[in-house]
Formats: sequence, structure tokens, C-alpha cells
Amino acid sequence: MNSYIKLEVRNAFPELERLVRNKPLIYLDNAASTLKHNFVIDQITQHYKMDAANIHRGVHTLSEEGTIQYEETRDIVQKFINASKREEIIFTKGTTESINLVANSFGEKFFNEGDIILISTMEHHSNIVPWQMVAQKRNAHVIEIPITDQGEISIQGFEKLLDQYGDKIKMVSMAHISNSLGTINPIKYFISLTRQKAKQAKFLVDAAQSIAHLRTDVQDLDCDFLAFSAHKVYGPTGVGVLYGKYDILDQMPPYQGGGDMIDIVSFQGTTYNDLPHKFEAGTPHIAGVIAFKECFKFLDNVGLENIKTHEAFLCNYATEKLSKIPELKILGPTNLENKSAVISFTIENAHPQDIGTLLDQQGIAIRTGHHCTQPLMKRLGVTATARASFAIYNTTEEIDRLYDGLIKTCELL
Ligand SMILES: Cc1ncc(COP(=O)(O)O)c(C=O)c1O
Repeated sequence: MNSYIKLEVRNAFPELERLVRNKPLIYLDNAASTLKHNFVIDQITQHYKMDAANIHRGVHTLSEEGTIQYEETRDIVQKFINASKREEIIFTKGTTESINLVANSFGEKFFNEGDIILISTMEHHSNIVPWQMVAQKRNAHVIEIPITDQGEISIQGFEKLLDQYGDKIKMVSMAHISNSLGTINPIKYFISLTRQKAKQAKFLVDAAQSIAHLRTDVQDLDCDFLAFSAHKVYGPTGVGVLYGKYDILDQMPPYQGGGDMIDIVSFQGTTYNDLPHKFEAGTPHIAGVIAFKECFKFLDNVGLENIKTHEAFLCNYATEKLSKIPELKILGPTNLENKSAVISFTIENAHPQDIGTLLDQQGIAIRTGHHCTQPLMKRLGVTATARASFAIYNTTEEIDRLYDGLIKTCELL
């Protein structure tokens, strides 16, 4: 255990106690999904055991209690990301659905023939494909913002595109942190550049990888949309958030039709509910949203500054340690100031899948593959990497075991 992390933090994650292949689990796949906090698990169990009922529509006690708890999470998220109105927080299934919602609803109404959508080479597929799909329908074009060999967005390349396409640009959508490389993009600066040079453009921040690691203030960033998932913040799967500026969301048509999103339904025509319900058709993941609030309480309790310090410490420690393995090459920014706690690497003459399998035999969980970023892999000249990603509960002892595991892997391969 190192000084930045207290034992009670680790104790809050029961899965850390399990064995994998008869060895204590070392979980280093946090960029894919984090482990779940005890309070989240307790809240979900409590809901299904004692409180289960549908929300928003009932006058009975259980429905009213559930509605209050569900709506409380909205208030907590609003405060956590400093949105100016609670109606700007839409619950979705996750980042993917949040981006699809904007692409479909905003895109179908506001994209016209010849319009430009800018996304970077390092985006996750869920921040590429929805734009391609809507671009095809609206005869718009998705254009790639180039990156450098170190896996950082080329500022010059971005400025050039903004100058070239100017008012034709209707959307810029960009990850705050790359899931494959850990690159922290200077998102606030990119938003201000966009405001100066492409006045018609809206800016969506994919915060899937940043929300649990960096302070997020949507008013300070001045982004138009921001998307994230609960399962990367120590919370449940199947829950996510779309933040959108009220005036923009208000102009957007509903994304899905069904219960809860309507005002009056008739065969002559239907009118829609107000924000945020206009975008929350059908019965949501009630238990998940209720439990999600525990994640923000946890992050606030530990403190995002402490989390950042701890994870930066782990990233430095791991980078230094893994760099001692001659066959191993780390991809991504070399300046660790611009990097979150993700280490993507290759080992000479070893397929990443074999690395992952051999580490699993030692109880160590890492991710291997293209990480849903095939264009990025192509740009870096690889088909896949191995990726270790850290969270608040990881320790230097675990990195030592990763190092030992990799030495063993190199001997075997
Ligand atoms: C940067 C980024 N964007 C989007 C997603 C998609 O998130 P989800 O699968 O939770 O919708 C991920 C998931 O790994 C991600 O890392």
C-alpha cells in the first residue's frame, strides 16, 4: 500500500478480495469498466429487495419514494458537473447512447448537405460510427482531426481544419481522455478555438474516460454536450448521462418515442413532455440511476485532487518500471503531464492477446485488442496493444506484480 491510498478505499470494493486462478485479483482494466463500490451494490440490492416500483407515474408510496430517489441523482450529477439546470441532465444507457442521442436528434434536425462533423483519429468507435451514420443520412461529411506520432491531437491540424471549413462545421466531437492511450486533450482550449473559428459548430465532449479522474465543470468548459457512463465511475452498467445546454436540448426533437416522454397522445398528433423527460422514453434503469448517486458521493469523499495525485503517481511508477523491460514499447504521450493512468504497450514478437492470456494465468486482468479504436491503431501502425489502466484502489504492489508477470511472459513468448 502506498501513502496516497487508504485501506478503507480498497475495502469498499469487495471484488478485490476474490481470487483469480488461485491468486489475488489484480484488476488493471479500469478504462473498460471499474469495479463496483459497496454502497452502489447495497443500493441496488435495497431497491430490488424492498423498494422496487415504477417511477414518475404512480401515486402510491413506493412509486413516489422511487421518483424522489431517482430525481435526487439528477441533482447530484448537476452539481458534480456544475450544470446550470437540472433539466440539462438526461439519463441514458451510457456514453454510447448519449452520443447516438445527439447524433440522431441534433443531427437529423440541424445537419444539412455539405455540413462538416470533425472528430479526431483517437476517438472510440462510439464517437465515430453514430456520426458516420447520421452524416450518410444527411449528406454531411465526417472529417478526421489528425494526431501526432505521440498520440496527441495536432493543434495545427485542428486549427487548419477550423480555418478551412469555418461555418460549414456543425459539430466537433472529441474525447477528453483517450481510452487507448490515456492522452489528456486540452479540451477547454479546443472548445475556445472552435468558438472563435467555427461559429456554427456545437462541441460534444466524450467524458467517458475523464469523469472519474478529472474535475468536470461544463460551464467552465463551455461545451454544448458532454457524455459519460456510470460503469467507469465505480457504478452500475446500463446507466449514463448526457449533459446538454438547455436551449439546445429544448430545440432538439425527441430521440425515442414511448411512455414518459409525452405530454398528450392522440391519433391526431402527439405533444411531448418537457426536458429532461422528453429524452427519457420508457422505464429507465431505476435501480442503477438511484445507486449511481453513491459514486459521486464517493468521488467527493475521496476528493478528485487526491484521485488525480494517486493515479498520476501510479502512472509514473508504472511507466518507469515497465520501461525497464527492453522488449516492451509504451505508446502514447511521453510527457506524463498530458496523460492519465493508462499504459498501452506492445512487446516485441508477442501478440497482445497472448500477453493478456499469460497475465490472466497470474490473476492479472489487463485489456488487449484494438480497444474500439481501429482508426487509431491503424495510425499508430499496430493492430492491437496491451493496456493496463489504473483506478483509485490500485497500488504500487500491484504494478510490481504486473512487472513480474510481464517478465515471466517475455520469457515464455
Ligand atoms: C472514450 C470512450 N468513449 C465511449 C465509450 C463507450 O462507453 P459505453 O460503452 O459505456 O457506452 C468508451 C468505453 O470504453 C470510451 O472509453
